[in-house]
Amino acid sequence: MLDFLGDLQRTHKCGALRSSDSGKKAVLMGWVNRRRDLGSIIFIDLRDRTGVTQVVVNRELNAAAHDKASSLRNEYVIAVIGTVKQRDANTFNKNIPTGEVELVVDELRILNESKQPPFLPGETVLPNEEMRLKYRYIDLRRDAMQYNIEMRHKVTKAIRDYLSEQGFFEIETPFMTRSTPEGARDYLVPSRVQPGNFYALPQSPQLFKQILMISGFDRYFQIARCFRDEDLRADRQPEFTQIDLEMSYPQLQTVYSVVEGFVSAAFKIAGHEIEANFPRMSYDQAVRLYGNDKPDMRLPAMVDIREALTPEELEELAAKFKIRKEFPIQLIRIPKAGDISGTERRTIGTYGAYQHVQGPSFVQLMTDPKRFAKDYPAISDKVLSFAKVEADDLWLFAAALNRPESPTVMDQSVQHFCEKCGFLRLDLAQKYVERHGLFKKTGDSSKDYRFLWVTDFPMFEWDKAEKRWNPAHHPFTSLHEEDMAKLEANIDSVHDPKSPLGEIRALAYDVVLNGTELGSGSIRIHRQDIQKKIFQALGMGDEEARARFGFFLEALEYGTPPHGGIALGLDRIVMILAGADSLREVIPFPKTARAVDLMVDAPTPVGEKQLKELGIQIKAQ
Ligand code: AMO
Repeated sequence: MLDFLGDLQRTHKCGALRSSDSGKKAVLMGWVNRRRDLGSIIFIDLRDRTGVTQVVVNRELNAAAHDKASSLRNEYVIAVIGTVKQRDANTFNKNIPTGEVELVVDELRILNESKQPPFLPGETVLPNEEMRLKYRYIDLRRDAMQYNIEMRHKVTKAIRDYLSEQGFFEIETPFMTRSTPEGARDYLVPSRVQPGNFYALPQSPQLFKQILMISGFDRYFQIARCFRDEDLRADRQPEFTQIDLEMSYPQLQTVYSVVEGFVSAAFKIAGHEIEANFPRMSYDQAVRLYGNDKPDMRLPAMVDIREALTPEELEELAAKFKIRKEFPIQLIRIPKAGDISGTERRTIGTYGAYQHVQGPSFVQLMTDPKRFAKDYPAISDKVLSFAKVEADDLWLFAAALNRPESPTVMDQSVQHFCEKCGFLRLDLAQKYVERHGLFKKTGDSSKDYRFLWVTDFPMFEWDKAEKRWNPAHHPFTSLHEEDMAKLEANIDSVHDPKSPLGEIRALAYDVVLNGTELGSGSIRIHRQDIQKKIFQALGMGDEEARARFGFFLEALEYGTPPHGGIALGLDRIVMILAGADSLREVIPFPKTARAVDLMVDAPTPVGEKQLKELGIQIKAQ
């Protein structure tokens, strides 16, 4: 039999009561986390968002309440009215803040029952993720999820507050809009009143926020939901949230300071003081030193040992190992991982063990320090001290094989080679350091936060499949003023892989944390003449540009101020702060890797009638 709530009001939350409340009357409401029936006495651990309180029902004192308590099951919702009592010192529960008291019940009301849940929020062993996602409401009751979602709220609020104080207005932009210029794919929404026409859900508010600058709002931000129909990974969801902002008349430094400010505020609210001045590194440097554009600074950079060699020594090594001396010879060092077994060491040294990172132009040399020291005594000492190799480090060299055919675009090949070295570096680190708990790509609980600005991204990137240059960020990104002449000189070379278009630097930047891209932005083009040139360089005629971005190009013509901005992934920030290894741990209702919501079971087919109304016909696949 269920009871009515009546006019009963809760006086305390389940995590609130302390010794100092002893003797007070209290009304608690919550879920039955656990019930222990000792015959005449029943203990109930009563749980809500704030914690757990032990509730005692004594048959001697209150037979009616005891009767009801006997019928309770896990996850029933109850209200208890009682008196707070200090426990005997030998029964204190040191694991919970309410552990010195209990509530002795005068009256118990059963507000609702619960079916036996497929798993219990209090269990330490988690069911598989499918089960968790299908019964997300039960999963969200778990402490860890409550903590993550609370953290998300606090972080979001800290960011909102910070940006508001800095003069940013929070402005909403539409969900039903048209395709954005970013590369990934749009989710489309059919229009009933305009049959055959579709809205697109925004991949980001990019053009709207630029238009808000044209509209005079000066500083805009939005905690913006974005939608992208792209292949999913642990750090990608089809529906995710950006901290999106734009400002008028910024220098690069202005954007950097604002981001450093709100990121510091977010980390502070989560209990971490960070240095608000993030180091900076150019894209070129990041690729050479770390093999990618989102360096994990917790591991040492790769060292090109050619810098430590005499020309003769370089000749000797190049000849001996048949390697290209115009490519870096990267010493990859993984600290404290030198204790791997001989077999493991040989496996790394075996061509093919890292098939996915080794192309035909890739070779690893020497993973055995003793042998290297013996074969190359003069070089060994010098190189190892140059790269600051310690005795307990794991290290190896990666070099490019000397092959007769030379690559078409030398610089891109060096980049490609460095990227492979970067993969190898991260792969080794994952394998050998994680063992000692020293390094984890994500889900790291060490709280070692290494932020970095990666700057000067290339403006264009070569698309091998389409054999053309594409914007590396988006076509509204501004370029370095000094590179303007290069753009003008190569404006008609969109299909030439050797074109110096690849050398033009954008005023684009990423903010990176421990190997994860947190955010990305740029100073935008505010002049119509420059925008036209970019479109021309991209092989886009006036007509095509008008067809794709007409409304925006028109807006640009009405006195656009210089402006720029950035967007950071809120989910990614919270994931890192929560020490989680997937975005699904910090998004209340996420999708699976196959973009399915298991709880509501979406997407689903829709009925004929609805399709007909929308003028849509489904073809058999
Ligand atoms: P970009 O596409 O780089 O830039 O996105 C910015 C940041 O958004 C986050 N992010 C994602 N998070 C979860 N799941 C996804 N599928 C996903 N995709 C992106 C990342 C990323 O760094 N309009 C530009 C920004 C600008 O120029 O101002 C943009 O959207 O953390």
